[in-house]
Amino acid sequence: MSAYRTHNCNDLRPADIDKQVTLVGWVDTVRDHGGVIFIDLRDREGKTQVVFHPEINAELAKLAEGLRVESVIQVTGKVVARLKTAEVDATNPDLATGEIEVEADSLRVLNRAAVLPFQLDRNVANEDIRLKYRFLDLRRPEMQRNMILRHRITKTMRDYLDEQGFLEIETPILSKSTPEGARDFLVPSRLTPGAFYALPQAPQQYKQLLMVAGLEKYFQVARCFRDEDLRADRQPEFTQIDIEASFITPEDIYSWVEAMLKRVFRESIGREISTPFPRVTWHDAMDQYGSDKPDRRFEMKITDCSDIFAESEFRVFSSAVANGGVVKAINAKGFSPSVGQVESLTQTAVEAGAKGLAYIKVREADNLAEWKSPITKRLSQKEIDTLKQRLNIEDGDCIFFAAGPWEESCTILGRVRLECANYMELLKDNTDVDLFWVVRFPLFGWDEESQRFCAIHHPFTRPVPEDVEKVLKGEISTDLCAEAYDIILNGNELGGGSIRIHEKDLQDATFRALGLDDATIQEQFGHLLSAFSFGAPPHGGLALGLDRVVMLLGGCSSIREVIAFPKNNRGADLMSESPAPAEPNQLRDIHIQVKLPEKLRQKLEAEGGQA
Ligand code: AMO
Ligand code: AMP
Repeated sequence: MSAYRTHNCNDLRPADIDKQVTLVGWVDTVRDHGGVIFIDLRDREGKTQVVFHPEINAELAKLAEGLRVESVIQVTGKVVARLKTAEVDATNPDLATGEIEVEADSLRVLNRAAVLPFQLDRNVANEDIRLKYRFLDLRRPEMQRNMILRHRITKTMRDYLDEQGFLEIETPILSKSTPEGARDFLVPSRLTPGAFYALPQAPQQYKQLLMVAGLEKYFQVARCFRDEDLRADRQPEFTQIDIEASFITPEDIYSWVEAMLKRVFRESIGREISTPFPRVTWHDAMDQYGSDKPDRRFEMKITDCSDIFAESEFRVFSSAVANGGVVKAINAKGFSPSVGQVESLTQTAVEAGAKGLAYIKVREADNLAEWKSPITKRLSQKEIDTLKQRLNIEDGDCIFFAAGPWEESCTILGRVRLECANYMELLKDNTDVDLFWVVRFPLFGWDEESQRFCAIHHPFTRPVPEDVEKVLKGEISTDLCAEAYDIILNGNELGGGSIRIHEKDLQDATFRALGLDDATIQEQFGHLLSAFSFGAPPHGGLALGLDRVVMLLGGCSSIREVIAFPKNNRGADLMSESPAPAEPNQLRDIHIQVKLPEKLRQKLEAEGGQA
């Protein structure tokens, strides 16, 4: 196999008995059974038991006994059958190599391990320690499995796209700001004092320019950088499977991505999924599930009750309707929340913009006196009766309400719905794969803070054909629709994309709709507009979040589990201790002077951080 070994630690079987072999790997365990030393030797492929008999070679057995786990050793010896008689069974059915062992006649220690900072065979609750010693953490079989899965998925996607005629093309990392909605990471330029590169949030403009350049079908396993608040499914640097093609419609994107994911599921986790994926409009997703990435694996749909309460004496409801809003409700069937859970749900609603969270805990459906609620006393019998029918209210149900503007009310109940499902453990042991497209997103949203329209996807997204004229004429509203699509897996956004604008005048009108003035448009996007005036093909694409794909297929709870060297939730790499202060001469070279406000400097100093 190599100068170091004849087999890997998952190779040997009874057919190899009597062979002289050499193995290398890590000491997984050392056990002493009355002087006989057993070592489980581990490499990437698996484990093999190695045995040292003191009566054959006392010195060797002593050397083996003194080894610390995770030391790296090389062992030579003979493959023998493990004892299996009526009285004793030393075989291990859980191990592929469990019927044999290697009787060592030589042992070379290639590297001795010090005492480990944590035990690799235990679940380590403290993630920081795992990240600090990531090179150890990655040795754990589940982490090795995640890395292998990631490789397999990436390779499958690469192969598929290659077969479909896509070219893998790299785009710059030192680039210019491209608006994807997050903050940029900036890199100061030494050669142009005072100027900065931005790390790409996505290769969006470059891939469009590759279409203008006539390359027709592009993909990239693209590193992206976004300085945003981190969560379980977000890292400051992450990877996209980034795709762009010319002369296509959304149908082409759907069928490529569906076929690609079908193959990925089959080849990486051996699961068959059916295609084509269903399509849900953004409006329906919001209206029924209160989310643009709905988890449809459980029902608890949002129901409109505006008509029931339009004339209600309960002002919270009737005035919402009178003001052009809605009253929406969900029925959490059979859910009897505790006081603490109601408090937490109310907090969730308030964080999503609600003023409160009206609810009804139904004990006996036909006995109103048994309903626990802050609002039932203010509702009429007719309202209650219609509500009972509309929501199919039965004993033991719990109803939650949101009254206000449509999108806000849906979003509030969407969050409450997910939290209820969590308390009710509706997804426990659920193995469904719910993959679908969300289509017909709005083109623009309204940003209260800046009092401007903002792009829902990004400013290069094309309006649906019937809205193109309106954008050109400057008739901008949040009712316009984008030719954009997201792909959702079990309530997670796996990816998104759109058909792009390829005409200079439409792109210009879109920038203007977003409140950009001529100078800014020219400065930030001059190259793109220039490209669009020299023969740009119609084009579109999509990007899948690779880390999220691997996380979900691997059944992991965080994308950090599928990234070899992730940042922690404060954006730090605890192993290499970055970010770190720069040397004064480095800063001088790039014309940067670090000036922290005095208060912040003192605070950092007090925390033992760098100032
Ligand atoms: P978007 O911004 O929707 O689109 O990103 C595409 C996908 O990338 C993943 N993703 C992330 N994964 C981990 N950590 C993050 N911080 C993070 N941010 C995004 C998500 C998301 O669905 N240029 C467009 C695509 C296009 O229009 O073709 C873009 O980047 O899975
Ligand atoms: P109040 O009339 O303020 O006592 O509110 C009665 C109940 O309605 C309380 O449980 C509030 O939490 C709830 N509530 C208040 N505003 C809203 C709203 N916009 N949507 C849903 N519930 C609300």
